[in-house]
Amino acid sequence: MTKQRLSLHAICPYFAMFPETFVREHVEAYSKKDDWVFDPFCGRGTTILESLLSGRNAAGSDINPVAFCVSRAKAERPTLDQVTERIAQLKEDYEQTCPDQWKKMRLALPPFFRRAFFASTLSELLFLRAVLKWRTDRAERFIAALILGSLHGEMDRSRAYFSNQMPRTICLKPDYSLRYWRDNELFPKKRRVFDMLRPKAECRLKDLPECHTGKVKMTDARRVSNHFPGLRKQIALVVTSPPYLNVTRYEEDQWLRLWFLGGEPRPTYGKVSKDDRHARASNYWKFIKESWAGLAPLLKDSARIVVRLGAIGLDEDELTRQLKTSVRAVFPRARLVLRPARSEIVGCQAQSFLPSSKGCLFEMDYVFAV
Ligand SMILES: C[S@@+](CC[C@H](N)C(=O)[O-])C[C@H]1O[C@@H](n2cnc3c(N)ncnc32)[C@H](O)[C@@H]1O
Repeated sequence: MTKQRLSLHAICPYFAMFPETFVREHVEAYSKKDDWVFDPFCGRGTTILESLLSGRNAAGSDINPVAFCVSRAKAERPTLDQVTERIAQLKEDYEQTCPDQWKKMRLALPPFFRRAFFASTLSELLFLRAVLKWRTDRAERFIAALILGSLHGEMDRSRAYFSNQMPRTICLKPDYSLRYWRDNELFPKKRRVFDMLRPKAECRLKDLPECHTGKVKMTDARRVSNHFPGLRKQIALVVTSPPYLNVTRYEEDQWLRLWFLGGEPRPTYGKVSKDDRHARASNYWKFIKESWAGLAPLLKDSARIVVRLGAIGLDEDELTRQLKTSVRAVFPRARLVLRPARSEIVGCQAQSFLPSSKGCLFEMDYVFAV
């Protein structure tokens, strides 16, 4: 029987995200009910949520605050009542603030922001940015995840996004965006953030099946065993996709979402992770090997590791050879359980890969027994 797609998965898009079916097939093939499934590069949390929905326990980590916020919102779901009450309270609090305060903050931001958002929308976002406790509070983290998923998007196709015209998956650079908006005479529309959040919460939280609560930490994959001491020797299955060799920089692509979570009002690189996009293969494979080593103390002796990987500048044989070498450096008896499977990157994902990532139009799937 095919399961219905749960809208919670799509709360916020993520570059190189797994399709849910990829996770479900591997979770069903290589783990049992109540086993622990883990993803050290969890992105938008597909492995975690899909494993929980399949009756497994699940945990994961990512170094990027956007990935942490979205994945943990999925792993520790609040109730709809908790979220709607909090939205109403936040709206009331906002209405008691002095509008001049937000005007001053708007004017202090780079020009990008004033063309990206309608003035009152930006004031509401500035308030929410200042008050939401997304690191520690379950309901507020969920609200932050809803905002991250709607912060920018295709204004011409939907009224669901807060920004001027922009792709939904990644945020383009400020200068490019400003030029594009000016050349095409595009202006942001008024969006009432608080009023839009309630139906968004309903859509994401309705019809959620009962399932376990997952664990998510914001940490480097190389250090996960220190952050999950209770999971030592507990993990039956890993389903993961590390950053691909020389393909993209998550931190730059997510810069506006990172700003909303307290980051700088401009794209940065290397403040969140220096491993998003390794250009040199030797550094990249060192990082991948160290990540397996970081994970090793958490794995059961019978564990399986499922990896999806792509790269620029390596053909599929070389990618397979290098990955096997990295896994065997940590798990000397590791073997491939299945022939590696190749899939072509198509549709929107391929289009987003193309501008900066010419050449990476395939991904490989591997299943290792360690
Ligand atoms: C290919 S994406 C994972 C996408 C994920 N499979 C999904 O479905 O959304 C790779 C992830 O690795 C994260 N990352 C980069 N460097 C990291 C590090 N040193 N430790 C942990 N995560 C890291 C990036 O932030 C990004 O979210």
